[in-house]
Amino acid sequence: MRYLLSSVAAILLATTAYAADPVPADLRASALEIFKPLPSTTPSVSHNPITPEKIALGKALFFDPRMSASGVFSCNSCHNLGTGGDDNLETSIGHGWQKGPRNAPTVFNAVFNIAQFWDGRADDLAAQAKGPVQAGVEMANTPAQVVATLNSMPEYVGWFKAAFPADKDPVSFDNFAKAIEAFEATLTTPAPFDAFLNGDDNAMTPAQLQGLALFIDKGCSSCHSGINVGGNGYFPFGLIEKPGADVLPEKDKGRFAVTATADDSYVFRAAPLRNVAETAPYFHSGKVWDLKQAVGIMAASQLGEKVNEQDTDLIVAFLTSLTGRVPEVTYPILPAETDATPRPSGVIVK
Ligand code: HEC
Ligand code: HEC
Repeated sequence: MRYLLSSVAAILLATTAYAADPVPADLRASALEIFKPLPSTTPSVSHNPITPEKIALGKALFFDPRMSASGVFSCNSCHNLGTGGDDNLETSIGHGWQKGPRNAPTVFNAVFNIAQFWDGRADDLAAQAKGPVQAGVEMANTPAQVVATLNSMPEYVGWFKAAFPADKDPVSFDNFAKAIEAFEATLTTPAPFDAFLNGDDNAMTPAQLQGLALFIDKGCSSCHSGINVGGNGYFPFGLIEKPGADVLPEKDKGRFAVTATADDSYVFRAAPLRNVAETAPYFHSGKVWDLKQAVGIMAASQLGEKVNEQDTDLIVAFLTSLTGRVPEVTYPILPAETDATPRPSGVIVK
């Protein structure tokens, strides 16, 4: 019934010229029921009060390749803040040039996701940050080695003391993760879509507004909603029609690995769509490079619909209104190593 009503609305909307000024009030009103603009200040994180000292430390850690066993990979290697917060690879390359199993999502706005990773297996950014450091295919390090590396550099020890003044033992793996989380909370990217939601009638182009109306009317927003236009719920990839193994490889069953519930086979977090125009290739498999094609796959697999060329272009136009302004990040000068700093290990040279 909802879909019936919404297709009637779609026809009405399709005959309304969005090029006309002013922007229809009802489009903004319906959008505000589904989405939320980014906050204008750094979001707070309940278990981790954010301070300038923590942010500065977290930034250094995010860019420091010595947090990996080989000394080659930093968080920024795979979440390059200059290229959309990801690595533009099908699936990431990590320790010993191993190819990981999944595409790297962007770190921009990740603080707003309900949980982290394609399958939501980490509750928050601090829990998440402990993963890549230890993952064999990513940074292949151990918590003890990270702490030893940090303790070997007096400047880092000073920065941890400043960031965690109440802690008896400030240099810890937990605090390493909390500092990175604080830095990541600053990585929000206000976009034309936010300006539109906040009342600016000129923020989005007529095509972007028509695309927004289609995105709502076709039902994309039943899964991609909230502040990140996704990132807030779990759904089967292939709800109506399972995509081929070329896009949805059979081995990766998504949330099934987290919950061990049969219903969760091939269930993934609805991808957050902010900056999606900058984060190709798409899907957890990274198999699709073209955003139009990704939209077509979604329409078929999640809605059982074929979207025509013109509507696809309009939806893609809407998606480009989610490309936001990246905060200015100055590359940090990192503490110098000392004789006590563990040497790089596990560097495979063939
Ligand atoms: C070798 C590449 C690589 C490195 C290094 C790496 N990541 Fe990732 N990151 C990934 C991949 C791949 C995923 C998705 C994995 C999954 O969902 O199973 C991911 C997921 C994430 C996510 C979740 C985003 C979301 O939308 O769910 C965050 C946040 C993140 N990484 C932050 C970090 C931080 C912080 C570091 C450094 C401590 C780091 N990453 C190091 C490749 C990497
Ligand atoms: C039933 C829920 C659902 C609906 C409806 C839905 N999606 Fe998705 N969407 C998802 C899930 C889940 C993923 C993650 C798929 C994966 O595991 O790779 C996703 C991924 C995407 C991606 C890839 C993003 C990336 O970073 O790789 C795009 C783009 C996208 N959706 C757009 C749309 C559009 C446009 C529509 C409407 C035509 C739509 N979606 C409808 C659930 C849905």
